[in-house]
Amino acid sequence: MMRGLWILATLGLVAAEDGLNGWLRYARLPGNNTKQAIVPSSIVALNSTETSPVYVAGQELQKGIKGILGKTVDVTSESVDGPSIVVGTIDAFTAAGGDTDVIPELEEDGFWLNTEGDTIEIVGQNECGVLYGVFEYLSLLGQGNFTKVTKATNPSASIRWVNQWDNMDGTIERGFAGLSIFFEKNVTVANTTRVSEYARLLASIRVNGIIVNNVNANPIILSDENMAGLGRIADAMRPWGVRVGISLNFASPQTFGGLSTFGPLDESVIAWWGDITNKLYEKVPDMAGYLVKANSEGQPGPLTYNRTLAEGANLFANAVKPHGGIVMFRAFVYDSVNLNESNWKDDRANAAVDFFRDLDGDFDDNVVVQVKYGPIDFQVREAPSPLFAHLQQTASAIELQVTQEYLGQQCHLVYLPPLWKQILNFDLRVDGEKSVIGTDILSGKRFGKELTGYAAVVNVGHNATWLGSHLAMSNLYAYGWLAWDPTDNEVTILQDWTRLTFGSDKTIIDTITKMSMESWPAYENYTGNLGIQTLTDITGPHYGPNPQSMDNNPWGQWTRADATSIGMDRTVWNGTGFAGQYPSEIAAQFETIETTPEELLLWFHHVPYTHVLSTGATVIQHFYDAHYAGAETAASFPTQWAKLVGLVDPQRFDETLFRLMYQAGHAIVWRDAISQFYHNISSIADERARVGSHPWRIEAEDMQLNGYRITVVTPFEVASGLRIVQTVDNTTAASVSTTLNYPAGTYDLAVGYYDLYEGKASYELFLNDESLGSWVGDLEDRLGYTLTRGIDGHSATRVTFRRVAIEEGDVMRIETVPNGRETAPLDYLAVLPPGVVDQGVLGAGYVRGLNTIQYFKDRVYYGL
Ligand code: GCU
Repeated sequence: MMRGLWILATLGLVAAEDGLNGWLRYARLPGNNTKQAIVPSSIVALNSTETSPVYVAGQELQKGIKGILGKTVDVTSESVDGPSIVVGTIDAFTAAGGDTDVIPELEEDGFWLNTEGDTIEIVGQNECGVLYGVFEYLSLLGQGNFTKVTKATNPSASIRWVNQWDNMDGTIERGFAGLSIFFEKNVTVANTTRVSEYARLLASIRVNGIIVNNVNANPIILSDENMAGLGRIADAMRPWGVRVGISLNFASPQTFGGLSTFGPLDESVIAWWGDITNKLYEKVPDMAGYLVKANSEGQPGPLTYNRTLAEGANLFANAVKPHGGIVMFRAFVYDSVNLNESNWKDDRANAAVDFFRDLDGDFDDNVVVQVKYGPIDFQVREAPSPLFAHLQQTASAIELQVTQEYLGQQCHLVYLPPLWKQILNFDLRVDGEKSVIGTDILSGKRFGKELTGYAAVVNVGHNATWLGSHLAMSNLYAYGWLAWDPTDNEVTILQDWTRLTFGSDKTIIDTITKMSMESWPAYENYTGNLGIQTLTDITGPHYGPNPQSMDNNPWGQWTRADATSIGMDRTVWNGTGFAGQYPSEIAAQFETIETTPEELLLWFHHVPYTHVLSTGATVIQHFYDAHYAGAETAASFPTQWAKLVGLVDPQRFDETLFRLMYQAGHAIVWRDAISQFYHNISSIADERARVGSHPWRIEAEDMQLNGYRITVVTPFEVASGLRIVQTVDNTTAASVSTTLNYPAGTYDLAVGYYDLYEGKASYELFLNDESLGSWVGDLEDRLGYTLTRGIDGHSATRVTFRRVAIEEGDVMRIETVPNGRETAPLDYLAVLPPGVVDQGVLGAGYVRGLNTIQYFKDRVYYGL
């Protein structure tokens, strides 16, 4: 019997799972967990229309109880004798004779859940509320939690949407999990199975709206065929209470409609949009509304016609108003052409407030300004957008990203709620009064707004895991919960998700909690520190390291790093004035170095590398230390996860382990590149002498080369020793070899190489003449990051062979066959004694010689 099956049989695990059901698996609880579960035998769903969320709620309840408890229950729409689970809206519940006196006031989408008596009551303010209540009840059952509950809950905000950046051709901008589930070949998909499955996941986290196409919108979405298709998509999502909307291209009247203009005040344009909107509402009568990106990053907008952004937004607001729709108008407006870094006062961060401050009050009441959480662009650390303080007469919503565009593209584990909570918990002190972004501003309370809330760019794709990574799904789950209640605890949410996704075993909960909570700090440590931003390739894929790409271009994500100093001076007294966009108490805090929180030091101030932090370390030494610490934490992830072998089903265990191993390796790429770059630019040595010194590495360029040539790479810092080797042509087999001058012992052997797409080079590692194993440069098929054609920080990676016994004088050889564009590029061989992560010593979580590692002993290890 194969080893995996053997483990499955002995531990009685569920069959391999692919992740399609996310946290809605309804996995059977172990027998002794279900003893206290007394569940009535009938479900009374007070609505029998199949497209009604109440009907769907009844079906879901039946399915969930069957899965979790193995118990078959009937669903009817009429009252029954004896105990039942009654689900319905408050109106239906009242009409059926239910006692509503005890139910506190429910707001839109709110619900009441009462499991105290023999009959369980799940009563929604509306049909969505019913569905949410049912999912909550199932979540409790699924976690083996049979405590009696009596609770009413209402959402913090009415807008809880997701945005998909799906292109009409089926690709997804910043999507890392395969092709679109909504579009292919410029039309909407015919088969909406995945669409309704997605809606089910969204409903279970109380998301009530979705924009299905990219903000960089293609007007072809407005064709008759696509409007009909949107009707089908809406039909698939409606039973789950998820309303559909679309992104618009401002120039559509001209580029698609054939008018001579798209000026927002032009009569023909107004009429054209009115007509289009009416046609859309014929197909999607409950369409949620529009999302508009205008005058940003090359997108057309009202400024072309000297009209204000508000006039542009109101054009659409007028069109959807009779139908009850809203317009989400993005505040992500900035000039990406004329920003000039040589002007000390120029600052992209100023743009949103500069553009929108004076328009407050000019927007129609069904316009919501959708504001990214920070003033730049989803960086690993940003100050909160000050625009939230300025939109007092205009409704606002925050824009978050579940898709990890700048945050590891789902190939790195980064649990995002701690980042989001930093923003949501921030008190902007508008007019000296408490103005916490989540509970006061986005709830609408502070400025008396009905329409406020949340949008998250999610970008699920056809991959069975939805986001490309099983663990990344905790971010989607948590998003829904935080949009409902931003005071929810991020660890509690994570642990609920873990129980539902992987089961309640304590080791599973503890391990996933520890790794997840370490993940954002680790990612920040090995990417960009102290508010300098992610330091990725901002003109390219936003994935691997490329700090120099941030400066000397008009994109405005500058670091202003020079030979002696670094950081954006955003003070009022000497800098771009951005700090002054905050209400006075906060502005004063950010104005001086002493009162600026250190994690945002370089966001607000330009300081010498030798500036001393509260820890006593200089800025540059902090960069080095943080990068080593971050990579060390990432190196512990695979070994932490490995403890779960046999506790998590083999498929999800393997797929997750693979990504964590890859992350561990890429974290070292990040660490080395960033440390090397700042070492080079500042000429300041690492006090601990790690940067640029790799006693355990043998550089490929120092090996004996056969069919290889030595080259440099771009950016230079992504090559250890600043050089690499590539095969002399794209077809001929080649090799490198070296003698190992290390004392006899057992070592891990790591090879640094580059895995491009458009090619699958093959590699085989030999010790003397014995093959230790082989691998292929096929990460492009196994990971969903933005593909790169270059030998760069995105393609740089590592593979590790564990516990290899070597003698001094042994000869190591790597035989390679280039393929396509992939010239089997090699950077180095690291020969690592126990406990050494290539010069960072592993933390306490690392245990060698685990049986679990043995289980994978025949596999090739990426990462570590
Ligand atoms: C980022 C992102 C783009 C996206 C833009 C937006 O710049 O990289 O892909 O279009 O944000 O939010 O509009």
